[in-house]
This record gives sequence, structure tokens and C-alpha cells, in this order.
Amino acid sequence: MGKTFNHLELAHLLWKEHLRPGMRVVDATAGNGHDTLFLANQVLTPHSGWVYSFDIQEDAILSTKIRLENELPKPVQDRITLSLASHDHFPPELHSIDLFVYNLGYLPGGDKMITTLAETSLASCKDALSRLSPQGMLSVMVYPAHSQGVAESKLLIEYFASLPTTKYLVMHHAPLNRPLSPSLITVRPKPPIVSND
Ligand SMILES: C[S@@+](CC[C@H](N)C(=O)[O-])C[C@H]1O[C@@H](n2cnc3c(N)ncnc32)[C@H](O)[C@@H]1O
Repeated sequence: MGKTFNHLELAHLLWKEHLRPGMRVVDATAGNGHDTLFLANQVLTPHSGWVYSFDIQEDAILSTKIRLENELPKPVQDRITLSLASHDHFPPELHSIDLFVYNLGYLPGGDKMITTLAETSLASCKDALSRLSPQGMLSVMVYPAHSQGVAESKLLIEYFASLPTTKYLVMHHAPLNRPLSPSLITVRPKPPIVSND
């Protein structure tokens, strides 16, 4: 059997294919900083690109900061903004973003009661769509195996499924024979149809 990819490996493959040095990206759930570091390695040079990374937990921001300091040269680190803030309050400078990533749920190794919430995640994803560049992408990993995750996955999947087909290409990569598995949703704006009339 050939190699199979879990939701996270698949997400990283798609991100890597999509990203170029100099792009502007957002990690909406920094956690332990693995995804922020992955994104930084794709888009940052000492003179271009920007990574914005958010988490509501001090432990997560600290863990991410230490990872970045250990792994990246200083001029590249300086192109990353780490914010101890909820992703439903993005600042105005977040516009023309090439990729938003959400790895929802709780901090691995942290308090499992502190988790992303359905309504906040939905509000944030809606806001993120309005801040995407025309060629941008939104990537959301959902985890329906824990109690908050069930409601959150359901709400987000319903919302993304309702987006107009003329405006967005929405994909859901999920193992059909394991319903509670984590899965990956991607959303890309479609170019407007130009009429020659
Ligand atoms: C599964 S972890 C993220 C893993 C991370 N991307 C990594 O590479 O290690 C989910 C994170 O979302 C954070 N979180 C929960 N609610 C949030 C919110 N409203 N805004 C931003 N982050 C939030 C949690 O604190 C937790 O650290």
C-alpha cells in the first residue's frame, strides 16, 4: 500500500504547495508552535513575508516563542507577530492574507478544558474569509472526538457547506469509515466570472 496521510500531514502538504516566500499567513491557534514554525519556514525570508500567530493561553504563546527562537535566525523571527489574543478579534493589519490555518481543539499537554469554541471559531472563520487575498486559502482542522469538538465540527461543516459555489471552492478531507476522526476543511475563493456583455 502507498503512503497515506493523516489530516495534519495532508494539511502541511497543501500549505506547502500553496505557499511561496514573501506571503502573509495567519496561524489562528498557535498551540505549541509546530504549525507556526512550519508556516514561517515556507514564507519568511529576512526581508519578506509575515506570520501572525494567535493563542489565548500564555503557555501556548511561550511554548511557540521558545520553539521559534530555537529554530529560526533572528531576522526571520522578527517577521513573526505572536499575540496573546483570541482569533475572533483580529487586528486591522490582517488583510490580504494568503493563508489562514486553524488547528482547533485543546493545547496538547495542556488543560483539556481550555479549548476552541464553536461560536468563536465560526465568527473567526467568517472574519478570516473577508481578509483573504483573492488567491488565498483557509485551512481548518476539526476534532469531533471530544465534546466541544462535536458541536464545533458540526457548526463549521454546516457553515462551509452553505458557502455559495459561485464564490468558493470548499473541500472536506475526512475518513468516511471513521466518523469521529479529525478532518481537514479547505476553502478557496473562486475568481469572479467576468461577463463580456
Ligand atoms: C490543537 S492546539 C493548536 C496546535 C498548534 N497549531 C501546534 O502546531 O502546536 C489548539 C490551540 O487553540 C488555542 N485556542 C483556543 N481558543 C482560542 C481562541 N479563541 N483564539 C486563539 N487560540 C485559541 C488553544 O489554547 C490551543 O493552544
